[in-house]
Amino acid sequence: VNVADTSMWSYRSYFIKGIGYTLLISLVGVVLGVLLGTLLALCRLGSIAPLKWLATGYVEFIRGTPLMIQVMFLYFGLNIPALTAGMVGVAMNSGAYVAEYIRGGIDSVAKGQTEAARSLGLSSKDTLRYVIMPQALKIIWPSLGNEFISLIKESSIVSVIGVTDIIYQLRLVQAATYKGIAPYAVAMVIYFVLVFGLTRLLNFAERKMQHA
Ligand code: ARG
Repeated sequence: VNVADTSMWSYRSYFIKGIGYTLLISLVGVVLGVLLGTLLALCRLGSIAPLKWLATGYVEFIRGTPLMIQVMFLYFGLNIPALTAGMVGVAMNSGAYVAEYIRGGIDSVAKGQTEAARSLGLSSKDTLRYVIMPQALKIIWPSLGNEFISLIKESSIVSVIGVTDIIYQLRLVQAATYKGIAPYAVAMVIYFVLVFGLTRLLNFAERKMQHA
């Protein structure tokens, strides 16, 4: 970029790079978060008491502290490289939230369903697998989409440890152009397009799924 050039358009490569990192962290975060969240939810539903306490403690602790400190702790405290700390931090955070969505989904399937399945002779494992889960998944699925959307916005906090996401890039553009406000506006439009586009896409997928 020519140093005299202070138009936002000439700094597009900065923003594009930022979009890449924001999407990467959100995607890795939600995928690992769903795996971790499933594991946590199973631990909480299961009958092994220590696992139950551990999973409950984890969920409460993660949800009770800011994502910002969690990410800073990984980066400064445990000396994990920035991008890894960002992805791991967001994933570990997301797992706690996803665990609650899954638990909520399973809880919301009527108790009568379990009682009916059990009295028909299904084991509690088979009841969960063949009766509760298929119904719970319909309820859980949209929350997982929403979680991905949340992460696109929430992951902006990883800029504090130097991950070059959209927020980090907008600061670079501010410094290079001496323009304070325009980069905010560009970043805002970018976030909005990402989130709004994704919401539409997920709504479409959801409608397809409900009809299936
Ligand atoms: N901003 C809040 C925090 O710092 C919420 C994070 C939301 N995380 C999520 N996985 N939905 O803790």
